[in-house]
Amino acid sequence: MAYIFTPSRLWGGVPIGIKSRKLDILEVMSGNAPPTQDEVFMQRALKLATETIGLASPNPQVGCVLTQTPLGGGTPKIIGEGAHLYDNRDHAEIVALKQAAARGFSTKGATAYVTLEPCSHHGRTGPCADALIAAGVTRCVIATADPNPLVSGQGIQKLHAANIAVTLGVLEQPARNLNDAFAHFIQHRTPFVTLKAALSVDGKLAPPPATRYPNRPFWLTGPAARHEVQLLRHASDAVLTGLGTVLADDPQLTDRTALPRRRPLLRVILDTHLRIPLTSQLVRSAASASGSQSDLLILCGSLASPAKAAALGALGVEVEQIPDHAGRLSLPAVLASLAERDILSLLLECGSHLNGSFLRQNLADKAVLLYAETELGDQAIPFAQGFPSPYLLERFLHRITRTTYGPDASITGYLHDPWPPTSLQTNP
Ligand SMILES: NC(=O)c1ccc[n+]([C@@H]2O[C@H](COP(=O)([O-])OP(=O)(O)OC[C@H]3O[C@@H](n4cnc5c(N)ncnc54)[C@H](OP(=O)(O)O)[C@@H]3O)[C@@H](O)[C@H]2O)c1
Repeated sequence: MAYIFTPSRLWGGVPIGIKSRKLDILEVMSGNAPPTQDEVFMQRALKLATETIGLASPNPQVGCVLTQTPLGGGTPKIIGEGAHLYDNRDHAEIVALKQAAARGFSTKGATAYVTLEPCSHHGRTGPCADALIAAGVTRCVIATADPNPLVSGQGIQKLHAANIAVTLGVLEQPARNLNDAFAHFIQHRTPFVTLKAALSVDGKLAPPPATRYPNRPFWLTGPAARHEVQLLRHASDAVLTGLGTVLADDPQLTDRTALPRRRPLLRVILDTHLRIPLTSQLVRSAASASGSQSDLLILCGSLASPAKAAALGALGVEVEQIPDHAGRLSLPAVLASLAERDILSLLLECGSHLNGSFLRQNLADKAVLLYAETELGDQAIPFAQGFPSPYLLERFLHRITRTTYGPDASITGYLHDPWPPTSLQTNP
């Protein structure tokens, strides 16, 4: 087998597209053109929304900035701002309006920058479009329309009807990227599934079992790439793997970022016959997680031993039976069960069997492939059963971004766009 390039040589060691998380959103959107005033304030609203990763789900991440032009003219100033935190209930617009009031600013004639169309319906709170109207806002700049086909455009219509000038589509794509999972869930009622894999340059997942120590992880990628995986876990509601990975690696699958999150990362294991060892790190860490709901969910089939299920339950693990088909758990049933638990985003950290099952059934929406420079050879564990190589999968990805993490290279792309077609054409 001959490889004439490694990922970093392929891209000349220079990342293409979005270079790192630190890259300014405006740089990505506008190239070298100076940002417009609308883009500057929307970027601030997006930053506020970004800071709510792990704190807004199952609601969307939304930020809002209110500006007021000083009497006599001049550059508009921010008078209030905020973001939505699920546990605080108030939507971003309300947080910003309350802050402006608390600071003694009038909102009459103000401009609101919102990363997602203000809602028009009664949910856990009243409609934000009504609140903006009541506050005397005269212009509303919106990054993207609501992805929910049942309400999309209705907030904008309400604002229009109240003679508020609406501009739609400012920094739309970065605003959409923040809420992929929400957009997918609200339309399909199933989690947005991201398949993540660490790979050798020849597209393998792990060395051959005979060459490895059992129950010990084999890390292909370096610390920077592994930190990125931690951030992916932090941004996900749940992480999923199969029994094969549990037996080979004895992983913890925890979010070790130490960043705040409003509900624990749900760790989901597919284990048809409940063969998971009671001494595994996963089970032992669930046992230490006191409180009401377990952060470890094991999904099993109809033939699993009730005694083992009871033993796991006694150790703080939640066990649920799922329909099985041809000896394997039904993946649509797995996703339906997670949706019932308000899991909007699911990160797959699976071995070859489950990667293959999710891909063959077209159930993965996005892929994050992290390539190390190591070569593992023909006998190593393939990326996904039924897929000769991850390079084949790359051909099906769209909206691809490439980046590097130290010596490792990553390629990220979508298999399904979670958003409806762009709302830019509705820009007045
Ligand atoms: N490099 C990476 O990113 C990475 C990540 C994870 C794992 N790995 C490596 O991958 C290897 C393990 O691969 P693997 O394929 O054995 O593990 P896996 O895909 O994580 O787990 C497969 C197991 O899941 C269970 N399962 C239940 N329902 C299934 C379904 N619908 N489709 C497929 N499987 C289902 C089956 O066991 P039951 O029939 O007993 O339920 C199956 O054997 C290890 O060497 C590990 O180190 C690498």
